[in-house]
Amino acid sequence: MNGVAVGVDFGTSNTVAAFPGDATGLPARIVTVDPDGNDQRLFRSVLFSPASDSSQADTTYWFAGGQAIQRYLDDGAGRLLQSVKSFLHSPSFTRTTVRGKGFTIEELVALMLTPLRNRIEKEGEGSIVRAVFGRPAVFHPDPQRDALAEERLRRAVLLAGFPEPTFMIEPIAAALRYEEQLTDDETVLVGDFGAGTSDFTLMRLGPGRGAGSRKQDVLAAGGIRIGGDRFDAAVVEHLLLPRFGAGSSYKTLSSRMTLPPWITRTLLSWHELFLLREPSTLDFLRHARRTTDQPRAMDNLITLVEDNLAYHLYRAVEAAKRELSDQARAQLRFHVGGIEIEESITRPDFDAWTAPLRQALLLKVNEVLSQAGGKVPDTVFLTGGTSYIPAVRADFAHLFGEDKLRGGEGLTAVAAGLGRAAGFSDTSRWERK
Ligand SMILES: Nc1ncnc2c1ncn2[C@@H]1O[C@H](COP(=O)(O)OP(=O)(O)OP(=O)(O)O)[C@@H](O)[C@H]1O
Ligand SMILES: [Mg+2]
Repeated sequence: MNGVAVGVDFGTSNTVAAFPGDATGLPARIVTVDPDGNDQRLFRSVLFSPASDSSQADTTYWFAGGQAIQRYLDDGAGRLLQSVKSFLHSPSFTRTTVRGKGFTIEELVALMLTPLRNRIEKEGEGSIVRAVFGRPAVFHPDPQRDALAEERLRRAVLLAGFPEPTFMIEPIAAALRYEEQLTDDETVLVGDFGAGTSDFTLMRLGPGRGAGSRKQDVLAAGGIRIGGDRFDAAVVEHLLLPRFGAGSSYKTLSSRMTLPPWITRTLLSWHELFLLREPSTLDFLRHARRTTDQPRAMDNLITLVEDNLAYHLYRAVEAAKRELSDQARAQLRFHVGGIEIEESITRPDFDAWTAPLRQALLLKVNEVLSQAGGKVPDTVFLTGGTSYIPAVRADFAHLFGEDKLRGGEGLTAVAAGLGRAAGFSDTSRWERK
């Protein structure tokens, strides 16, 4: 059996894998990780456990990737886990109980990575002997939590049957992909805007820099926990919360009270919405519904909570967000379980709602550049799904000049760079300081 080398970008929303290129200069090859999906290159970083009473659920605890989403949409019940990567740093996330069984976070990640490994080995026609995994520049600003996240990811990788991984910072991997096109040396700022984090690296790249350790080529690096998930939440916050009862009032014995804001703000992190299913909270919502000044909004909220529709809501929001990357206006349509929401969003609306997020991204970029003594990059390579947002690009064009901007392969550049790195037998040259 052949020994296969592979690079894996375990992303907050998508996982992508790539085989190294070959000696003739062929670039890395993206693995078909989801043969049945709309985009076969993307393995959705999602797990689904069917409800115990649903059919065929007796033996199968978990579905992963596109299958998980399909099964969730078909069943309408069960546990959907998404953005698990965002919790790797959290010491309080020790285990989650599903159908009476406890799962550690590394076991959950391994449940996603195991079918992925099977796909890679099938397509690579051999077992994996070398694996380079990506990690964000910063899982968490606290070094202990950061180390915890990497260690958990490492354990998950091993549990899933991969060999001991080498870790490479995601934007450095994207830089290596970009480097393949260069004919001259450049100092490049790479921005990788994902779903959970945005990472920046200032790096010297070029055709002459292939051999030896590359550590000294990384001039500065940093990241921030802002990505596409937060852009989705901004749409919910500014457009949709009133449609779910924010600002409504209900009657108490002596006066009218405003619905506590924490209730509707739970919608901003959709995976926490299940907390509102707590019986005492649901009782309170039903009680407030009786005297509310906004009956339709309260009905929407109760349906959303009772029917566990947060995922559907965020799917609708994300679809509108993506549409806005290509068009000046998008229609947000959410018609599920009796909730009827139809809102038009213009690009200026979206840009205004997300301005604080973009401001924070720019501050982080300045911080990273100042680590390198304020060095001005020759070019700026933007990648990651969130780099498709026109305002994100425009901010960088404004800061550095349109002519310096490079981009492309938004969803696969990191994996392609990791694949390239996996082609080198000595992966220690990529290891972090
Ligand atoms: N056309 C688009 N316009 C705007 N956003 C988009 C577009 N396409 C994808 N996205 C967003 O990009 C994000 C996914 O990008 P990507 O696959 O690079 O992230 P990831 O690697 O899973 O996350 P991370 O790198 O943070 O772990 C999602 O938030 C998605 O909504
Ligand atoms: Mg990513």
